[in-house]
Amino acid sequence: MTRIYLDHAATTPMAEEVIQVYTAEMKEEFGNPSSIHQTGRKARKKVDDARMILAKSIGAHETEVTITSGGTEADNYAIFGTAYARQSEGRHIITTQIEHHAVLHACEQLEKDGFEVTYLPVDQKGLISVDDLKSSLRKDTILVSIMFANNEVGVVQPIEEIGELLKDHIAYFHTDAVQAFGSLTIDVHKAQIDLLSVSSHKINGPKGIGFLYQRKGIMLKPIFYGGQQERKKRAGTENVPAIVAFAKAVQLKQAALTESSVAYKQLKQTFISELKRLGVPFKVNGSYETVLPHVLNISIPNTDVETFLVQLDLAGIDASSGSACTAGSIDPSHVLVAMFGENTPELRNSVRFSFGLNNTQEQVIEAAYKISKIVL
Ligand SMILES: Cc1ncc(COP(=O)(O)O)c(C=O)c1O
Repeated sequence: MTRIYLDHAATTPMAEEVIQVYTAEMKEEFGNPSSIHQTGRKARKKVDDARMILAKSIGAHETEVTITSGGTEADNYAIFGTAYARQSEGRHIITTQIEHHAVLHACEQLEKDGFEVTYLPVDQKGLISVDDLKSSLRKDTILVSIMFANNEVGVVQPIEEIGELLKDHIAYFHTDAVQAFGSLTIDVHKAQIDLLSVSSHKINGPKGIGFLYQRKGIMLKPIFYGGQQERKKRAGTENVPAIVAFAKAVQLKQAALTESSVAYKQLKQTFISELKRLGVPFKVNGSYETVLPHVLNISIPNTDVETFLVQLDLAGIDASSGSACTAGSIDPSHVLVAMFGENTPELRNSVRFSFGLNNTQEQVIEAAYKISKIVL
């Protein structure tokens, strides 16, 4: 049985061209970019060239990009880096109830360290209210961290409006763009973003690599100490092959952004139409309008997500609940709790399907058919 992978929001397969670049670099580029001999200088050039590509993809300057081990580190660096650099100016942070745990758990840790965190609620579509944000801002708010797009339901927040609101406030504006990057056009200047996190493995690049955009003039306290890499912002010998492969993945994504967005929307639409045609009862969780093209979270009455995911797995379909699996059982999703409330049916019967590279219309039609066989 050929499996149908519909879990691209969890991670993506590497693109063929990325694998080629990655393996070629692993064979050829073993130099340490900090070494001053030719082998080292060659590796340094590769990293510099890659950094230009990463920076350009969001309209930034290459000096504003710090390469990290992925989205989690980029989020942690933005949050702890701001908190510890600016604690004399204030100890208040604003975020949302639906962030990824890389943001939420970092904020919870800061609360233990004496910071105060406001977690903004969302409506049933998963959207925050900019008025709520406005009224939560204080003189001592040093950071606002609001995700660009959500990993479980795909809702896209009003990032430009938030940037506009914050432009005259002392708070840094951080956005976790791990899910949005590669799906939406991002211009950090237009959206007035100070800090932005990106991860490579969500865009058909290698795992364990990402970056944090840090606007010129934004001060962060490093979380890693050691060598002088990344302009002393992030110590540690660079993973040159992964960085070069990441840049390749970014180039491919940028070149195909409009085309893939249309293709994923079509896959989503076909999947929805097929489910309807087959008489599968379901409702879409979140917004229809402001949503990532490749993410679909649906609630199917009278199913139990744990059993349903096992049934899907046995039928050859990889999907996800979008929430954490702990010791084999699925904790209710904090995102769905924020959207629908405690003890609501959506917490027990929601599944996330996310489309991507190599998915075909035939696959989503087959997936819908297999779902109908399970559900009906
Ligand atoms: C929104 C969001 N932020 C952060 C992360 C963490 O990124 P990484 O897996 O690169 O550490 C993820 C990954 O699932 C994510 O979806």
